[in-house]
Amino acid sequence: MHLFEIVGGNRLKGTVPISGAKNSALPIMAASVLVEDETILRNVPDLADVRQMQVLLSRLGVKVQRDAQGALHLRVEDEMNAHAEYELVSKMRASVCVMGPLLAKRKRAQVSMPGGCAIGSRPIDLHIEGLRALGADFELVNGDMLLRAKKLAGTDVFLGGPFGSSVTATANVMMAATLAEGQTVISSAACEPEITDLADFLNACGARISGQGTPQVTIDGVESLKGTEHRVIADRIEAGTYMVAAAITNGDLELEGARIEHMQAVVDRLRRVGVIVERGEKGIAVSSSRRLEPIEVTTQPYPGFPTDVQAQVMALLCLADGNSVITEKIFPDRFLHVGELNRMGARLRKEGPTVMVEGVKRLVGAQVMASDLRASAALIVAGLVAKGTTRVRRAYHIDRGYERIEEKLASVGANIRRLTE
Ligand code: UD1
Repeated sequence: MHLFEIVGGNRLKGTVPISGAKNSALPIMAASVLVEDETILRNVPDLADVRQMQVLLSRLGVKVQRDAQGALHLRVEDEMNAHAEYELVSKMRASVCVMGPLLAKRKRAQVSMPGGCAIGSRPIDLHIEGLRALGADFELVNGDMLLRAKKLAGTDVFLGGPFGSSVTATANVMMAATLAEGQTVISSAACEPEITDLADFLNACGARISGQGTPQVTIDGVESLKGTEHRVIADRIEAGTYMVAAAITNGDLELEGARIEHMQAVVDRLRRVGVIVERGEKGIAVSSSRRLEPIEVTTQPYPGFPTDVQAQVMALLCLADGNSVITEKIFPDRFLHVGELNRMGARLRKEGPTVMVEGVKRLVGAQVMASDLRASAALIVAGLVAKGTTRVRRAYHIDRGYERIEEKLASVGANIRRLTE
C-alpha cells in the first residue's frame, strides 16, 4: 500500500495543469452505452476511478481504449449484459451512472445497491423514483436494483431531495430520457457544471436537451444517438484543492485550464480569507502573503460552496487568525478528517453538521490516515505547511481522484514523495 510523505514548509510557486473533471468523465463514459458508434473523449484524467469505470463498461460490452494522445475511445460491441455487479459498484459509487443508459438502451438495468460509504449514508431513492416516473418497473433482487421497461415515456420528473438536488440522479434521468418517447421535464435538477458537460456531450450525439445548468432541464426524446468527439471540462474540485494549497503555503500558483466561472463560491470564500484570486492568462492565478481571516462556510448544491472542497478549506481555516464555522449541508457526516487534523495540532470541534474551527499558529506533522478522497486531499494540504514530516497513509483514496498529485505538487516546490508501506 502507498503513502505520501510530506515535509512541510515550502512555499508553492509556478504553474499546475488542471486535469479533466472526474465527475464529468465518469457519467459521460457511462453515456457511451447509449451511443450507436464510436465515442471519443479528450481530457479524461488517468485516475483509479476512471480505470474502474473502464472495467465496468468492458463487462457491459463496451470496448474502451486509450490512444497514444490520451483520448479515450468507447464503442459498444455487445449489448447482452445489463448487470453492474456488487464487486464493481461497491468500489465506486459513480458506477450507478450506468443505470439510466442501460435501461434506455437495453430495456433493463440491474445495478447493485451502492450502500453507504465513508462520508455517510448515501440514498439512491431519487434515481429510482426518477426512472420509475419514465415508466420503468422496479424491484430489489438479492441486493440489486432491477429496472425494466419495454419503452420509456417522457414526463415531468421532480428530483428534489432533503438535501437539494442530486447530481448523479439528474445524470441518470437525463440520460434515460434522451431515448424516451416524448418530452421529459426535470424539475429541481442539479445545476453542476458536470451536468451541463454531460448534456452538451449528449446534444453533440444528437440528443435534444435544453436548460442544462438550470434547475429545469427539458429533454425531447430522439430515436438514437450517434458517436461524437468531446472534450471533458476542467476539474473544479482539483483546481479548488490547488487553490487551497497555494493559500496555505503563502504561495503563488497559476492553475492552467481552470475555469473561474465554475468556481465562484470557492473564489468568494478564499477572497474573504484574504487570498488573492484572479483570472490568469492560462487559467486562475492564486496567491497569498498575509494573515488569514476566519470565515463561515456552508456547503450547498452548485453554485453554492462544493462539499468536495469542504475538507481542504477546513485545513486552511485551521491557520486563520480567529474562529471559523463550517457547516455541511450535503453530507452532514462528512467530517472524518476532523480527528486527523486535530492530530496535527488543529483545534476543531464538531457539533452535528457543523465544525467550529479555532485558528492555531501552526500545524505539526504527524502520521495520519486517509479516510476518503477529499479528506485525504485535506491532509496532504495540511502536510504542506505543517512543521516537520506528515505521513498520509492509504494513498489509494487520493489516486481515485487526483492525477499525479505528488508530481504536480513537487513541480511547484513541495517536498512530497510516494512511499510503499
Ligand atoms: C456527486 C459527486 C460527488 C459530490 C456530490 C455532491 C459524482 C460522480 N459525484 O455525488 O463528488 O460530493 O455529488 O456534490 O458526480 N440524495 C438523496 N437521494 C438520492 C441521491 C442523493 O437523498 O437518491 C442526497 C445525498 O445523500 C446527498 C445529496 O442528495 O445528501 C446530494 O447527493 P448527490 O448529488 O446525489 O451526490 P452524488 O451524485 O452521489
